[in-house]
Amino acid sequence: MSTETLNKLIARHDASPHALVQILREAQVLQGWLPRETLGQIAQALGLTLAHVQGVAGFYRFLHTRPVGSYRVLFSNNITDRMLGVDALMRDLCQRLGVTRAQVRADGRVSVDLASCTGLCDQGPALLVNHHHVVTRLSPGRIEHLAALIEDQVLPSLWPAEWSRVDDQIQLADVKLGPQPAPGEALGAAMARGPQGMLDELKRSKLRGRGGAGYPTATKWELCRNAPGQMHYVVCNADEGEPGTFKDRVLLTSYADAVIEGMTIAAWVTGARRGLIYLRGEYRYLLEHLHAVLERRRAQRLLGHGIRGHAGFDFSIDIHVGAGAYVCGEESALIESLEGKRGTPRIRPPFPVEHGYLGQPTTVNNVETFADVTHIALHGGDWWSRIGTRQSTGTKIHCVSGDCERPGLYEYPFGTRVGRILEDCGARDTQAVQVGGPSGVCLSAFEFNRHIAFEDVPTAGAFMVFDRSRDMFTVARNFAHFFAHESCGFCTPCRVGTKLVVRRMEKLQRGDGSAADVRVLFKLDQLMHGTTHCGLGAAACNPLRDTIAKFRPAYERHLQSLHFVPDFDLDAELSQARLATARDDTGAHLENME
Ligand SMILES: Cc1cc2nc3c(=O)[nH]c(=O)nc-3n(C[C@H](O)[C@H](O)[C@H](O)COP(=O)(O)O)c2cc1C
Ligand code: SF4
Repeated sequence: MSTETLNKLIARHDASPHALVQILREAQVLQGWLPRETLGQIAQALGLTLAHVQGVAGFYRFLHTRPVGSYRVLFSNNITDRMLGVDALMRDLCQRLGVTRAQVRADGRVSVDLASCTGLCDQGPALLVNHHHVVTRLSPGRIEHLAALIEDQVLPSLWPAEWSRVDDQIQLADVKLGPQPAPGEALGAAMARGPQGMLDELKRSKLRGRGGAGYPTATKWELCRNAPGQMHYVVCNADEGEPGTFKDRVLLTSYADAVIEGMTIAAWVTGARRGLIYLRGEYRYLLEHLHAVLERRRAQRLLGHGIRGHAGFDFSIDIHVGAGAYVCGEESALIESLEGKRGTPRIRPPFPVEHGYLGQPTTVNNVETFADVTHIALHGGDWWSRIGTRQSTGTKIHCVSGDCERPGLYEYPFGTRVGRILEDCGARDTQAVQVGGPSGVCLSAFEFNRHIAFEDVPTAGAFMVFDRSRDMFTVARNFAHFFAHESCGFCTPCRVGTKLVVRRMEKLQRGDGSAADVRVLFKLDQLMHGTTHCGLGAAACNPLRDTIAKFRPAYERHLQSLHFVPDFDLDAELSQARLATARDDTGAHLENME
């Protein structure tokens, strides 16, 4: 890449250090990878040190500081993609192309590897090429054709359009996925109430955030609105990295107006003048579409200066594309990334509502939360609060994947029975459901009468179905790999702990495990719980704990294969592990266990 091209790229971002991740991403598109020389030029132009720029580039999986293949193929390693045969398909492609997984072929043409989850589990198996061309519904035939196209050096943009078809797969629609209001209608209703009136409406709705934690949206907005600052920000968290979750993809594809309108209403209430959408790198293919929606809304005077003719109501939205790091879904890591840094979660408090993007008051909400706000503005808070349960009002979108006849999106009022969702999606002989993704909860058949709600089974959206043919140990093992792969490495309990979990799970998988390994797994769970810096590490052992407790025979099968533990006693193992847990020297414990 010429210096002139790079300088133009940097100038397009006003040579702002906060745009570093975007500049690196775009420079890589032009060059294929990021040589040291390019990093040096970028550092100089932005007034940063080379070490800082290298540190940032090294953090994100989709940024490469070493040469990579011209065709970088990443298969989705999500458990439901694996159940659909991703492993065999990847082996087939590697064989056809004569390439070893995770290595660049000698001629530099191609590399093949795994990615955590591409957000396409309802139409998998899926893969990404060069991080932004998606190929869905993989089959042996498609792999054979794909290998030939790569050998013939046909650009992914010229591959059959059908391959990159991504369907919404809406199986059941309620208020959010049903008919939509005209752009501006809900915003008009919000503005007619005034900022305080809209906030009161939101309070009446009792809306809780859809990103997982269920924090009351009105409280968050009020705290942000009341926090002193030169500039307030609204951030839409579209990182959607939790395996098994793909609702935000559909909302941004076909309901982008509702999401952006919700962000604009947030600006009206909090006094923000700038908004940011943090779009996960895997959804880069939605970027042009989203820019077009923003452009149209600007033309409709629903964004920009004097929105809907109201002098002083100015709000603009930019899009920041992520670069392959699940931890950046955590709101403070996301803000770090937006500021052009490594996505390391911040120490909280202070919370983003007081000290967020560029140190200013910032409200971060999930894509679905913003869509909810649009419908609340239109129909009122009382209407919303009458849907669902007392503590969980409104509807929730579930991303159904795995062993069922009709995967896709299902929207239900909160309070819906798990069994009802299984019936509706055509699941048969179901052994388990992983609700909320690997960070969530694994339910076994005796729990299918429980209800989806913050007061019973909370969820961020994933609903992965496993029938009785599935080995739940394999499921937990896949999740263990996911957390180890995605740990940002900042704190010892998570960095070391997630790797130790993987090591023991692999030992059990090989049939070399004993009761002592299960004891170590319990101990790791105890040590990591409550000692990690952010929610990723805190949730990393959830699948392990749930599956050992509820699907014990799946583990015992691996142990019994060596006739190792005839007297394995789960309760005794657990209490022993509890006794051995010393919270204040967790790091030392973990390092010693390695
Ligand atoms: C490791 C980790 C990953 C997360 N990923 C996401 C995500 O992809 N999308 C999201 O909205 N929230 C995610 N969250 C939760 C956010 O930190 C935050 O609570 C949420 O965006 C707030 O929005 P809400 O109030 O509308 O729910 C994640 C949290 C953790 C700990
Ligand atoms: S818990 Fe894991 S992801 Fe979170 S800060 Fe620590 S190392 Fe990083």
